[in-house]
Amino acid sequence: MPSRLSADVLVIGTGAAGLTLALSLPRNLNIYLVCKGELGWGSTAWAQGGVAAVLDKVDSVDDHVADTLKAGGGLCEPKAVRHTVERSASAIQWLIDQGVPFTHEDGSEVDYHLTREGGHRHRRIIHAADATGRAISETLIRNVQQRANIHVLEQHIAVDLITRNKVFGTSETPDRCLGAYVLDQRNDRVVTIGARSTVIATGGASKVYLFTSNPDGATGDGIAMAWRAGCRVVNMEFNQFHPTCLYHPKAKSFLISEAVRGEGGLLKLPNGERFMHRFDKRGELAPRDIVARAIDHEMKRLGADHLYLDISHKPADFIRSHFPNIYDRCLSFGYDMTLEPIPVVPAAHYTCGGIRTDLHARTDLAGLYAAGECAYTGLHGANRLASNSLLECIVFARMASADILDSDTGPSDPDELPLWDESRVSDSDEKVVISHNWDEIRRFMWDYVGIVRSDKRLERALRRVRLLKQEIQDYYANFRVSADLLELRNLVVVAELIIESALSRKESRGLHYTRTYPEPQEQTEITVLSPERPH
Ligand code: FAD
Ligand code: SIN
Repeated sequence: MPSRLSADVLVIGTGAAGLTLALSLPRNLNIYLVCKGELGWGSTAWAQGGVAAVLDKVDSVDDHVADTLKAGGGLCEPKAVRHTVERSASAIQWLIDQGVPFTHEDGSEVDYHLTREGGHRHRRIIHAADATGRAISETLIRNVQQRANIHVLEQHIAVDLITRNKVFGTSETPDRCLGAYVLDQRNDRVVTIGARSTVIATGGASKVYLFTSNPDGATGDGIAMAWRAGCRVVNMEFNQFHPTCLYHPKAKSFLISEAVRGEGGLLKLPNGERFMHRFDKRGELAPRDIVARAIDHEMKRLGADHLYLDISHKPADFIRSHFPNIYDRCLSFGYDMTLEPIPVVPAAHYTCGGIRTDLHARTDLAGLYAAGECAYTGLHGANRLASNSLLECIVFARMASADILDSDTGPSDPDELPLWDESRVSDSDEKVVISHNWDEIRRFMWDYVGIVRSDKRLERALRRVRLLKQEIQDYYANFRVSADLLELRNLVVVAELIIESALSRKESRGLHYTRTYPEPQEQTEITVLSPERPH
């Protein structure tokens, strides 16, 4: 592999957003699609419930917009919401045309089954049983593999974006992205990829918390890279905690889809009592922020390690056919959900904030786009409505591909770009620094910046994160890069962005609940953090 590559479009990330983007571009473009780990790794393949879209006769764009705005707690950008929802049916049609095997209504070959989730007033979630993400991921990967113009680089982790001002010492506004430095994890060499357009599609950052439903790679790399390159980052205080992950020491926060509650699952205390109606009249189908906080409250009140989710009152065949994967997984941990309640706890699930983009997925840098969970589009506000994430991935990836085609693209002459400089670093002598700091960040983020916050806790977290950031930066400057070190370097940046955003919000709203300011304020705004200068 040469140490310099040249692309028309460089896509970093192979989840729903990255794959959709690559497949939406024409076949005459030279596309590099890079991912750390293997192609199918990432949250997309783990998604269960499905994709929200206006597909039913009784549903409407207005209703889906209204539900999204309501869940978003007054902080969604209405234009972005309508823009997304209006494109939901065509996004689903695109997935169907790609070959995604969505579940049909019983006995129908035409109509698709739509399920319900919290905050949706209609059945509007199209799904592939309870493994929708896997179906989408596998289908799109198969199609990517048939495209000669899409060059897939697995085991390649992006280190940093290359920007014109940084490499050529200019001070143009806006700055332009010229590609990225990417570490080939198989041989520890950093490759320079020059690109006319670069897309960040690196997913979320929930790995910053000790307990998360996300896969290991969800370390906010794209958000941190964009921040270092000079992009604004918005609403990072709104990290969504999913109410129901399986509680078991070996289950590693396996998600129990909200669709289980959508199909009648009930939340219960250890004594079998229901409690959700005390918190919201919508009961188990209240939006996630409310349900997660209610569970957290009851667990703390009772000193319980977990509560229960019970769908055993439904026919066993119904449960097994609607939730085959969840059923099997629970059974493998000794719980038969057709016969008994299953133990559940909340876990960090989704990053509502991210890199500021416009409706075409453009960021603050010319030639740089962001799509999927790493982006802030204005859709989710203070709390994402269930199953709006995959929708956002598809809609905005398609917007970005259209814009790339329409845009006046920059130069792509990788020979002009400097190679990665390793002349001043050596091999690490103390890798324990990396593993120790990983654990420390994730634990204090869970304890101090979790479901319930206070200024005191946040200030404690800020002091710690700043110390660690300095230590990690020193380590990065002196030792050869590795995937673990790069992720840690990104994780600490994202942690600081979350804490700073949380401290700047002097109210409780949506996913951000603080004891210091327990009420929402009348006037509110999104939280925009701007780098003073590229880092
Ligand atoms: P991901 O699918 O997370 O992919 C990120 C990609 O970026 C990966 O390929 C990764 O390797 C790559 N990457 C990251 N950093 C780097 C780097 N530095 N260099 C190179 N590559 C990098 N949403 C819904 O709408 N409906 C659901 O039913 C649903 N269920 C969910 C269930 C679970 C268990 C989880 C965890 C999430 C769920 N979500 C759901 C959320 C949704 O799955 C994600 O928000 C969405 O899949 C994100 O897609 P993405 O393309 O942005 O990123
Ligand atoms: C779920 O299936 O509960 C996850 C849905 C989502 O995260 O949108």
